[in-house]
Amino acid sequence: MRLTRYTHGLGCACKMRPQALERILAGLPTPTDPAALVGTETSDDAAVYGIGPSKAIVQTVDFFTPVVDDPYHFGAIAAANALSDIYAMGGTPLFALNIVCFPTNRLPLSVLEAILKGAVDKAREAGVSILGGHSVEDTEPKFGMTVTGIVDPGRVYRNSGARPGDALVLAKPLGLGILCTAMKNRMASDSAARAAIETMELLNKEAAALLPRYDVGGVTDITGFGLMGHLREMCRGSGLSARVFARAAPILPETRELAVRGMIPGGSRNNEELVSDICEWPEGMDPILKSILCDAQTSGGLLVSVAPGQAQALAAELRSCGYTFAAVIGSMEGEESGQARIRVIDRG
Ligand code: CO
Ligand code: CO
Repeated sequence: MRLTRYTHGLGCACKMRPQALERILAGLPTPTDPAALVGTETSDDAAVYGIGPSKAIVQTVDFFTPVVDDPYHFGAIAAANALSDIYAMGGTPLFALNIVCFPTNRLPLSVLEAILKGAVDKAREAGVSILGGHSVEDTEPKFGMTVTGIVDPGRVYRNSGARPGDALVLAKPLGLGILCTAMKNRMASDSAARAAIETMELLNKEAAALLPRYDVGGVTDITGFGLMGHLREMCRGSGLSARVFARAAPILPETRELAVRGMIPGGSRNNEELVSDICEWPEGMDPILKSILCDAQTSGGLLVSVAPGQAQALAAELRSCGYTFAAVIGSMEGEESGQARIRVIDRG
């Protein structure tokens, strides 16, 4: 079974170009419901809706085309990815609904069964039940979930919550888009493929569970827009600039070699264009490293802005909790010119 043959794009790399989407959304009326605590204005990870003085619903939806050939792993990755936005907001997931698009005339139903099994097992690991869903006949398979959770409205982590001086900690390594492209083209070694699948299947649950003990500003998860694209949203949301130490960013094994051999997904190339309005790349920046920093991730790690004195301790605790690549990769800074910038520095 080679599931990625049945699709045009890979995982979060197949999401629509945000430039086009932003234009359409700008023409629609903005929601005015006062109970909407987090809505569309800051490109945050999930919606938060107040239902009482200390209670709010947090809800997200995510689905995409296969990132890997094995249907069980695809289901598990899609579930981990959908759950991630709840964790990124500081929420606790309660239950999920499946979203299924499936070509019943091209693929045996056993494939769908394996996808759903992967999702159920991953949801169970997260302590979440899948209570229903919706399926559509389609020319290519797609799978994902809506996830509903609860969050204390006073403890919501927004991508706009970063503060000047915060350090940036990234919990999972980059290169997932490049690795998935290489896996599809049978260029990645077995061990590199296994590392990528394990990384995508790793829930962000334990990482999020550590955060209440730290002085955390903003949080987001790194998915289709890549590290630089999601950091751009953090900067724009919080009205701050950022500094990224390019050589401190954790990277999956073989990523560089595979990128050199052209295994860079289209979504990652779009991201380089997307961030060009905010990014200052150093003179002579290694173009491969630039591609990796912009690489579209599926089920990537949390990006946390934390008080600078606690950043190394948070990274160390993440590493001891199974996020073995966790690292401090940069910092947030006040804007000088009233315009958010991301300054990339070519060192660790
Ligand atoms: Co997200
Ligand atoms: Co999402």
